[in-house]
Amino acid sequence: MSEELKGLMRRFPLGVAVVTTKWRDKLVGMTVNTFNSLSMSPPLALFLADRTRGNDVPFRESEFFSVNLTDDKDILNTFAVSPVETRFRKMKYELEEGVPVLTEAYAYMILRKVQVIDVGDHSIIVGEVIKTRMVRDADPLVYYDRDYRKIC
Ligand SMILES: Cc1cc2nc3c(=O)[nH]c(=O)nc-3n(C[C@H](O)[C@H](O)[C@H](O)COP(=O)(O)O)c2cc1C
Repeated sequence: MSEELKGLMRRFPLGVAVVTTKWRDKLVGMTVNTFNSLSMSPPLALFLADRTRGNDVPFRESEFFSVNLTDDKDILNTFAVSPVETRFRKMKYELEEGVPVLTEAYAYMILRKVQVIDVGDHSIIVGEVIKTRMVRDADPLVYYDRDYRKIC
């Protein structure tokens, strides 16, 4: 990505979420700013996985994944920068459809993977939403200019 495009994208606010799955008996999770809804009928949602980092592999090879909405910067930082194998050690979670759901999430959904589309150096991971749950009210965060920021 050119420096100009990076600079422009820094000025584009994006929602953030933690996507998780269970892969080869290990819990996997990462922070993404590419989650979005895709279709209402059927109910589909997507995120992008960076293939240069192998971020697609666990989701490509699993049947289910979860998307967790959190207003906690520490959780977002943990799932972006902590060593991958340590991320769930300090996290409260429960398993639903075999994938971890973060207890601290203010909302979450469970998806069944339906399609993986490789485009450039990323993969579009598409899932059918099979369960949604609003847990509590929250002040969401957006990622803007390299930081997580409150919007209200
Ligand atoms: C704000 C933010 C958004 C991110 N969005 C994505 C994303 O949409 N897709 C992706 O594959 N990686 C994304 N990443 C990077 C992953 O979180 C990171 O590569 C993943 O947790 C694996 O960690 P590692 O690269 O240290 O192995 C994002 C990172 C940050 C800080």
